[in-house]
Amino acid sequence: MWKVEYIQGATWFVQKELTLKGLSSGIISADEQYTYLTKASISLDQLKSLQTVTKVYSVVQHSDYSPKYLSKHKSIIRKALSVLNETMDDFESFQIKCAGDDTPEVQSIIRYLSQELAIPHDINSPDLKIQIIKQNDNLWELAIQLTPRPLSAREYKVSHLSGALNPTIAHGMNLLAGVDSQASVLNPCCGSATLLIEALHCNPNIKTAIGFDIEREALSASLDNIKQAGLIRKIKIQTLDIMEALPPHIANQKFEAIVSDLPFGMAISKYLDLESLYTRYIEIAERCLTPHGALVTITSQDHLFQDIIKHSIFRIAKQIPLRQMTTAGEYLETTVFLCRK
Ligand SMILES: C[S@@+](CC[C@H](N)C(=O)[O-])C[C@H]1O[C@@H](n2cnc3c(N)ncnc32)[C@H](O)[C@@H]1O
Repeated sequence: MWKVEYIQGATWFVQKELTLKGLSSGIISADEQYTYLTKASISLDQLKSLQTVTKVYSVVQHSDYSPKYLSKHKSIIRKALSVLNETMDDFESFQIKCAGDDTPEVQSIIRYLSQELAIPHDINSPDLKIQIIKQNDNLWELAIQLTPRPLSAREYKVSHLSGALNPTIAHGMNLLAGVDSQASVLNPCCGSATLLIEALHCNPNIKTAIGFDIEREALSASLDNIKQAGLIRKIKIQTLDIMEALPPHIANQKFEAIVSDLPFGMAISKYLDLESLYTRYIEIAERCLTPHGALVTITSQDHLFQDIIKHSIFRIAKQIPLRQMTTAGEYLETTVFLCRK
């Protein structure tokens, strides 16, 4: 079977994408970070084209497949590796991930794999990860990662902004907003335009896609990424402080979706506090969202956001808590909120 990995908590996004692509009947089981799918009805290329997942694995599960057993039955490993045939050239080093990796059994598997794959074992930056995981008292899993680079590494990302949203989450937020069947999207505080570009990837037929950000640096990163994505005619962005009056092409327009990765924690502008910025964001949504439109927001400031929503014309229709590892190796907890009028 296949296993896809995603940011912890992003299960709804992945299931929505699988459903839209007609692949949901292949789901065997899902938890908050992994979904298992049958190989019978889904190809590797179909999984690699998913926009909400980060990694794809080929998996075999059996009650016997402990490291000790596999070290004595290496033909099982060889058979599992056959799935790599076409992609083997993409990998430069491998790593075995399992408990007790300094035991003689695991060391013998490592020696075997070094010979069989003809690439070195590397614990620091391997691109081929092989996991031997104990699922429960009666089940072991041998998983081979088939995607050398995370699928979240998009080709359009030529300019990176610190604090940029993971594109798999940006894609999922657009799906949550229903952008796949909508014609217009507004993205306040757009940063490097991840949400807008992913919106166009969800739905190339969007007629109006507009973003703004206070920082010139963010706008220049946006432009680089939008150009690289080939979307310069489809996405309009501009420098604007959210506290300023909106220009007429935004103020006089109704959008079917408003999506935003709001600032949290970072410096937002000289005299501005988060409460004023969030309050203003909701005012804009009250004015510019169509009556049945979707407001989808990601923030780590859950309480502040919920309080402001309570005093607005919106209600929270769905909440998706996410937990992701930052580049600094710490967990960042955020929530995606879907609000409706
Ligand atoms: C969390 S970042 C968004 C990152 C973006 N999703 C990306 O992928 O690059 C928040 C953005 O809010 C912008 N921002 C902060 N204060 C603002 C304000 N007063 N008006 C408009 N944008 C603001 C910041 O410049 C920053 O780019």
